[in-house]
Amino acid sequence: MERTLIIIKPDGVQRHLVGRIIGRFEQKGLQIIGLKMMRLGREMAEKHYAVHKGKHFYDSLINFITSSPVVVMALEGAGAIEIARKLVGSTFGSAAEPGTIRGDFGVSNSFNLIHASDGPETARFELGLFFGPEELSEYEHADRTWIYDWSKGEPE
Ligand code: CMP
Repeated sequence: MERTLIIIKPDGVQRHLVGRIIGRFEQKGLQIIGLKMMRLGREMAEKHYAVHKGKHFYDSLINFITSSPVVVMALEGAGAIEIARKLVGSTFGSAAEPGTIRGDFGVSNSFNLIHASDGPETARFELGLFFGPEELSEYEHADRTWIYDWSKGEPE
């Protein structure tokens, strides 16, 4: 099973989309193993977006992500990183495909509602940044035998 980090950004919270966005991941079959609301300080935001330091959008991105509370979520599932990225859609709201979170709920390129880790290394780093081990719950969904085919011993 793979884990990934999701951030519902300030615009998602302010636009009352938290429930519907979380619902997209739940409906797909990804398991919520961590969830909290927080206001990001500059230091945390700068660590999270360190790879973008120096880019033309960096300062406004840091201002935006620290401007109001966010909801952070840890998800688990087979192929969770790639699946979550597909549910989120492409970066810019103006171009994101209908059916995706960004495609269905927004039109802005900078206020793009949500962040999802873009690979295994990033996911490990971002999960470690936002969640302590004691904040992640390991449990089995009662319907896990219907979410996946376990007949070969692995989730398929
Ligand atoms: P996110 O998935 O959180 O990762 C980096 C963020 O930078 C991205 O979503 C956008 O919110 C923001 N951003 C703003 N301008 C750009 C740009 N030109 N290219 C990529 N990301 C951008």
